[in-house]
Amino acid sequence: MAKSTILAAFQQCRQQTLALLEQIDAGSFCSQVHPDFSPVGWHFGHIAFTEALWLLERSAGGKCIFPQYRQLYAADGLPKSARVELPSIEETRDYLNVVREKVVDYLEVADMATDAKIWFFLLQHESQHCETISLVLELNKTQNYPSLSPSPSLSSATTSPALANDMIQIPAGEFEMGSNDIDALDNESFAHQVYLDTYYIDRYPVTCQQYREFMQAGGYENAQYWSDAGWRWLQSEQVQQPLKQPLYWHDNAAWDNHPVCGVSYYEAEAYAKFVGKRLPTEAEWEKAVRGEKEEITEGNGELAGKTTARQGYHQRKYPWGNEEPTAEYCNCAVSIFESQSQFQSQFQSQTTPVNAYPQGQSAYGMYDALGNVWEWTSSWFDAYPGFIYYPYIGYSQVYFDGKHRVLKGGSFATRIWAMRGSFRNWYHPHVRQIFAGFRCVSDER
Ligand code: AVJ
Ligand code: FE
Repeated sequence: MAKSTILAAFQQCRQQTLALLEQIDAGSFCSQVHPDFSPVGWHFGHIAFTEALWLLERSAGGKCIFPQYRQLYAADGLPKSARVELPSIEETRDYLNVVREKVVDYLEVADMATDAKIWFFLLQHESQHCETISLVLELNKTQNYPSLSPSPSLSSATTSPALANDMIQIPAGEFEMGSNDIDALDNESFAHQVYLDTYYIDRYPVTCQQYREFMQAGGYENAQYWSDAGWRWLQSEQVQQPLKQPLYWHDNAAWDNHPVCGVSYYEAEAYAKFVGKRLPTEAEWEKAVRGEKEEITEGNGELAGKTTARQGYHQRKYPWGNEEPTAEYCNCAVSIFESQSQFQSQFQSQTTPVNAYPQGQSAYGMYDALGNVWEWTSSWFDAYPGFIYYPYIGYSQVYFDGKHRVLKGGSFATRIWAMRGSFRNWYHPHVRQIFAGFRCVSDER
């Protein structure tokens, strides 16, 4: 991996991070808006700390350059609620800059033959924390104006409606799940063959229009659609606030073709049951996104005769192929310098209609797999065969506890380095503060 490529990615990612920091006022910087999330200001310091820890200390063998920050910013340092006494925005920006200067110097002499992986980890680490910052900022807004943000763009209302029952057949066969690439996180490793029977998957994520039918049919009042755990969750949430709609619900037809956003796993599961479908397993989601539909031509020009991957055949990295994500392919947090409109503040920061990115469809014709909203799957977050933790046990392994569900695909707030077919996110099933929606599958058409 060329050092110039790594440097460019680090700089691009950081530009986005600093732009995000610019938008934040001193008040929201250090206040905790939700018990599950640290104050936004903490994440910026933690980004700098983590970069210094793994590059300047562990990789380069240097000393901790800001020992006074160690306890505050270490992943295992303080409980989230105790992360409210923070250095100022200016001090935090300095911390990021000082660490980064040393890191850029270190890159000159770093050994990429042995250490390349940690650089890719850090790009994704920064990207993930910045998505968390984005969603905490959104929570700030929704607390004041429930269900009013974000506002729709004018073009949203003018797209033709998606077909409610448009499903794609995914033929039975093997495919390769996971990744051995340099940027693969520990939980994506190692790539392995999975056989799946024929199934049908929604072409689009479930839209607000479709979800409204569930709401209007009394979905939230009807225990028959809910799992036991889901119904218990619903009742306990009702105590705190009447909960009869997704967190980011818009009671406005302009959003009809946008994916539903801000639902817990339990709501996704209930909707699927309501329409007589179910949520996809992670493997079902990933095969529909990364699988090759075309028959594979062998070297001698004869058809291999298989509709999907053979043993050892590598799947595509993204639904559209192997080209890096851009604003042409999906609604993600691409930097302003890559998108066509240079004046866009940072990124779109809201959902788009589910059929807005025809160029981003998978070989099977599945739309909107990457970007827009994360998609809940029915799979528990767990290790793949041969799992080895990296870079620390607390990154993935401690979450292999049978209590976290896998989400796939990324959202409008996900950066390109943390978005690919094999990427795995995980949350407790009750969490709805994330930019998450879902699509359904069925065993029969
Ligand atoms: C995978 C997004 C749940 O933010 O807690 C960041 C990612 N892990 N630093 C999180 C993560 C350590 C993680 N999520
Ligand atoms: Fe972290």
